[in-house]
Amino acid sequence: MILVDGKKGCFHLQAGRSSYVLGVLDGRYLVHGYWGPALSGKAVLSQMVTPGGRPYSVVENLSTGSAESMHRHWRTGGDHRKSPTTITAPGTDILGSGLSDRRRRPEEDQISVERLPLEYPTAGSGDLRCPAMTVRLKDGIRCIRPDYSGYEILDGYPGPAGLPWVTALEGECSTLRIDLTDAAAGIEVNLFYLPLPEVDVILRWSRIRNESDSAVTVEAAASASVDLPAGPADVITLDGSWSRERHFHRRPAAPGLQQVQSRGGASGHHHSPFMAVADRDATETCGQVRGVSLMYSGNHREVLERDRYGGMRLQAGINPEGFAVHLPPGENIDSPGAVLAFSNTGLGGLSANHHRFVRSCLLPEPWRNRNRPVIANTWEAHYFDVNRDNVVALAGEAKEIGAEVLVLDDGWFKNRIDDHRALGDWIPDEGKFPGGLGETVNAIRELGMGFGIWVEPEMVNPESELFRRHPEWILRAEGREPMMARNQLILDLSRPEVVDYLMDLLSGIFSSAPITYVKWDMNRYMAEIGNPDLPAERQGEVTHRYMLGLYRLWGTLIGRFPHILFEGCAGGGGRFDFGSLAYMPQFWTSDQTDAVERQKIQYGTSLLFPPECMGAHVSAVPNHQLGRITSAETRGLTALAFNFGFELDLANETDGDKAVYRELSKLYKENRELFRTGTFHRLLPAPAGTPVDALEGAPANRHAWMIVAEDGRRAMVFCFRTLAEADDDGFRLKLQGLDPEAVYRDTASGAEFDAVLLENLGLWVPPSVGDFRSLYWSLERNGR
Ligand code: DGJ
Repeated sequence: MILVDGKKGCFHLQAGRSSYVLGVLDGRYLVHGYWGPALSGKAVLSQMVTPGGRPYSVVENLSTGSAESMHRHWRTGGDHRKSPTTITAPGTDILGSGLSDRRRRPEEDQISVERLPLEYPTAGSGDLRCPAMTVRLKDGIRCIRPDYSGYEILDGYPGPAGLPWVTALEGECSTLRIDLTDAAAGIEVNLFYLPLPEVDVILRWSRIRNESDSAVTVEAAASASVDLPAGPADVITLDGSWSRERHFHRRPAAPGLQQVQSRGGASGHHHSPFMAVADRDATETCGQVRGVSLMYSGNHREVLERDRYGGMRLQAGINPEGFAVHLPPGENIDSPGAVLAFSNTGLGGLSANHHRFVRSCLLPEPWRNRNRPVIANTWEAHYFDVNRDNVVALAGEAKEIGAEVLVLDDGWFKNRIDDHRALGDWIPDEGKFPGGLGETVNAIRELGMGFGIWVEPEMVNPESELFRRHPEWILRAEGREPMMARNQLILDLSRPEVVDYLMDLLSGIFSSAPITYVKWDMNRYMAEIGNPDLPAERQGEVTHRYMLGLYRLWGTLIGRFPHILFEGCAGGGGRFDFGSLAYMPQFWTSDQTDAVERQKIQYGTSLLFPPECMGAHVSAVPNHQLGRITSAETRGLTALAFNFGFELDLANETDGDKAVYRELSKLYKENRELFRTGTFHRLLPAPAGTPVDALEGAPANRHAWMIVAEDGRRAMVFCFRTLAEADDDGFRLKLQGLDPEAVYRDTASGAEFDAVLLENLGLWVPPSVGDFRSLYWSLERNGR
């Protein structure tokens, strides 16, 4: 809901149990007032923001005079556009008010810009904190001071052009657009706010328009900037590497800048496009947490700047480093959407909000309410050595243990015997698959299995027909030998002709056989970020144009093939973000298939994404990444609540392990509806104040999570211990989210438990002998 007090220039956005308030100060500054638990009464901006002059800062003198100023600050009246006020010249009032009289209190007739909670701060405005927007004007000067100039409430949920956005929202939705104008520079900024009432989330994005008669360069255009008040806080990020994605990190919000980013053209393995600020004592179940994430899969930056007064500026947007958009007169640039999620119930509440957002607003419509099949993937079974016989044999064995779709991973196309060649030439290898893929697909379908295929369309090997034909189609810098990663180069999707080519090519492949599943991979970062056909002033647009090209490609293909379930992948989870989930309803979480390492990855990943979006496969032991040996039960239970599947050569598995896999598939199918729709809870949370060098946020030796049905009728609980503990005395695992008035029955033992007891004393986890142990409980509510 959007409530506007036009007279006072105050905007109150209500998203479920949270409120977000912003408004207009002195008729010109758009300031942030409040983001927290829903306000029951009227939002009064003057109670939320205390402007005033501060020593040694750029100040504005209010023309209204000090006597009435506190009152008049909030006056917007009908005419929002005041005549420009004066910036006090250095050496006069700044020094005068600051140095000559240090006891002076904040001046009521002055506004220190550096102390204002600005909703969209700009470079060159006297605010010395991190700007949301930087524009280089025709004279080369970066100085923008846009004033509030109006607002409009729009029906529906218009989103940024060509970028990921929500679809098919239920109920009435409206968007608040607030306009800011720098008349001197001819720059207009539109800020869009979409409160999503059902999910406690507000979406934001911005549009920068050049209304001047000269070209300008937009060097930064954050999607969201929120100034939070001073106070003790932790900052939370999800960081890692290939095969170690999204480890949970929490540390005190210290003075200065803390930031995470990506520069390689994808959101990346290193840092998720996400940052949260939490109360120092926030836990999984209580305390306030505010998270900002980006709906974008390219270069991103999230910043928390703790300023000189302890205030915190939280920002998310396209990474300004390497970004510069040339904007001729009359043109505009849209930022990607930012997801602002507030939780008053700790990290668990934040996850729940994110999960609800993904499930009901973000996932592509055909897959929003559909269960996901059990996958058998050929990669860790046969790597590049796939052929008709071993793939059909694997499909047969996989069917026996409950798999429903065979996914033919890398190696199926001509000359693809290893990762040195053939990317770009998407023609089935007739040697491996006589007669093409059709015969193999038919044989698999006759077994009662669906068929899926792997592609990596954004890439090309120099040793390929495509590269020989179109060497100019790669990202490159003229006169430089392109650098290789995994022996491959990147097709330049900033070129519309490359996107069109891939569109036709992939449409041909996807309709060549009854393909119901596509794994879309991407396996390297960008080095030479250039499109030599673009003029020099547009080279800073290449990575963003690449993303726009990719989103156009994805959007068209998912529209053409709504029956195909797309799985995103980027060397595992290197592009797993709210941008890709708008097109690909699930993502291969990590190339790390070792159960113990996966528990940490899934733990962090669950802060953002619901379990059904996280691909999780049972693989062979010794594990191919780490050589660790874990039991079939532990590997299976680690994967079970997620997007379940297998990735191993079943011909090498023992009958005993195959029996376990069969049981697990059955258990998954019985519960996949619960996993897809229930509320996910992490049960052994990272303790508050986890030191920054403790890279594993959660206590490393124990992991546990549970999923509770929306109606509280059922719950599944999973618990894992890494190493056996000496003189183990067992422990109590406190559950969450149960119906507090109910009694639950453990379906295995028949034992009955009071829900209050389960949440406050906990389930008994007995001492265990041996490493890498796992347990699960299936609980059913008695009676109701
Ligand atoms: C990287 C992916 O993450 C793997 O799952 C697999 O598909 C390989 N690429 C294939 O080359």
